[in-house]
Amino acid sequence: MATWLRSAVGPGGAILDVGGASGQLAALLAVALGAHVTVLDPEAKLLAHVPEGERVHIVMGVAESIPSGDGLFDAVVATDAFHHFRNQTVAVAEFARVVRAGGAVLVLDPDPRPFAMRLVALGERIVGEPGALLAPEAMRALMASAGIDGECTPEAGAGYRFLGTVRERPISAQLDESLDLSLPCTRRTET
Ligand SMILES: C[S@@+](CC[C@H](N)C(=O)[O-])C[C@H]1O[C@@H](n2cnc3c(N)ncnc32)[C@H](O)[C@@H]1O
Repeated sequence: MATWLRSAVGPGGAILDVGGASGQLAALLAVALGAHVTVLDPEAKLLAHVPEGERVHIVMGVAESIPSGDGLFDAVVATDAFHHFRNQTVAVAEFARVVRAGGAVLVLDPDPRPFAMRLVALGERIVGEPGALLAPEAMRALMASAGIDGECTPEAGAGYRFLGTVRERPISAQLDESLDLSLPCTRRTET
């Protein structure tokens, strides 16, 4: 996985592992890339097992409302977690917000097309999980709609990976973000 991220994340770079649970992947990526990896997860009992250290950090929260400033990460990863997000459209917009332009978004998730995976998704829905598995083309389209361009590649074991790059935001959007245009207009009344 480090190989797929290396072009976006140099030594000392920053990765957000969304739905990173107990941080096993985070610890591996921190060593492999010499990067800082922050594990974001809503489950305190999982975060308690994260091997925190100089380069591995934890944040409690959800993908749909990432407690981070804009463009602070070189990459976001989400492994076997995306189909758990309750609002995937908002989550993807959050990925595009917290990753710098040119940074990477890497998602590994099951492919819902094989019958066995549809049963898994159904089982997850029965136990109250969203179980919202996206087919690769739907994942690619959703990411593109948020400004993340990439491709899906099949992975061994009935899943696929989406690897994308956050598009440069148009200058007009950057200006809108940096200016407070919400000041009330004052109407001048003639006397
Ligand atoms: C199946 S586990 C995958 C954990 C880890 N990424 C892995 O590959 O082993 C799914 C994780 O997603 C987390 N999760 C569920 N809903 C989430 C959300 N809305 N935002 C972020 N993480 C969420 C769960 O707490 C859980 O730790």
